[in-house]
Amino acid sequence: PVDGTGRAHGKAILIGEHAVVYGAAAIALPVPSVEAIAQVELLPAGSPGSLTSRLHTGPLATVPAELMPVAAAVHAAAIEVGLDPDRLHVRIDSEVPIGRGMGSSAAVAAAVVAAVADAAGRTLSPEVRHELIQESERVAHGNPSGLDARTVVADAPVRFLRRRPQGAVPVGAPVSFVIADSGVSASTAVAVATVRARREAAPAVIDGVIEELGALVDPVADALATGEAAALGAGMTRAHHLLREIGVSSPVLDDLVEAALGVGAAGAKLTGSGGGGCVLALARTPGSAGALAAALRAAGAPRTWTMTLPKTPDL
Ligand code: MEV
Repeated sequence: PVDGTGRAHGKAILIGEHAVVYGAAAIALPVPSVEAIAQVELLPAGSPGSLTSRLHTGPLATVPAELMPVAAAVHAAAIEVGLDPDRLHVRIDSEVPIGRGMGSSAAVAAAVVAAVADAAGRTLSPEVRHELIQESERVAHGNPSGLDARTVVADAPVRFLRRRPQGAVPVGAPVSFVIADSGVSASTAVAVATVRARREAAPAVIDGVIEELGALVDPVADALATGEAAALGAGMTRAHHLLREIGVSSPVLDDLVEAALGVGAAGAKLTGSGGGGCVLALARTPGSAGALAAALRAAGAPRTWTMTLPKTPDL
């Protein structure tokens, strides 16, 4: 029996990853086609809480390290809604690839929080829900900006500033992106710690790059609003070079960016915390996204996802 169900989806960062941790502006995109689903069953007294997932099946109390954030989400949400976390069976089915910059940890946490609340017959306010997802994100990677936690439950691009959401970003004309998996997983915690260490060693250099990344956000938002793919793409490609300067790109990511630009993409960049993960490429026109995806697979991406952001209604 299922007493509660919750869902959330993946995300891609259009501009501002890493800089957002230091309060700079950023924009992230929901990726609705890649979903995480959680189901909760209320257990009779005396049965220990348990988890079923592709990574691990067993008692909640003894999950392996990579599932500690999930256990934290179950615990935090259960306490919030007055359920005993030791009497829940939680099942997770997630299509969001792990360690690929697509918000897997936040999406799974958001699905779990929603499922636990549903099992208690409760609807959480967006702020309470966000705080519960963030409790899990802090276990996953220390000092999360909250951008992932907001975007995995959003239905439109999210703009962030000073670690706070600034509302949805208008889209003036449909734009198509291809997300290309590098095939390499990487840890957000490690990438964020790398930037922190570099900033401690060379504050002026890293702060300069963070400022430049932040300054790209207004032009990118304007280009989205007016539907100018060339300007949007130019901002993305510039962001990739800045992210490379702070040490979070990799040869595989650089090669995929070059491959995208080589077949005429309007722009391309790593997306998420980097080190591995995915590249986000902007098709020059929605009609050319299929060819761009094929080129990225030919360049070595084991899989791609194509996504079109619709024009904002009534714009
Ligand atoms: C991770 O998807 C995005 C980062 O900016 C970290 C964060 O925002 O917490 C690298």
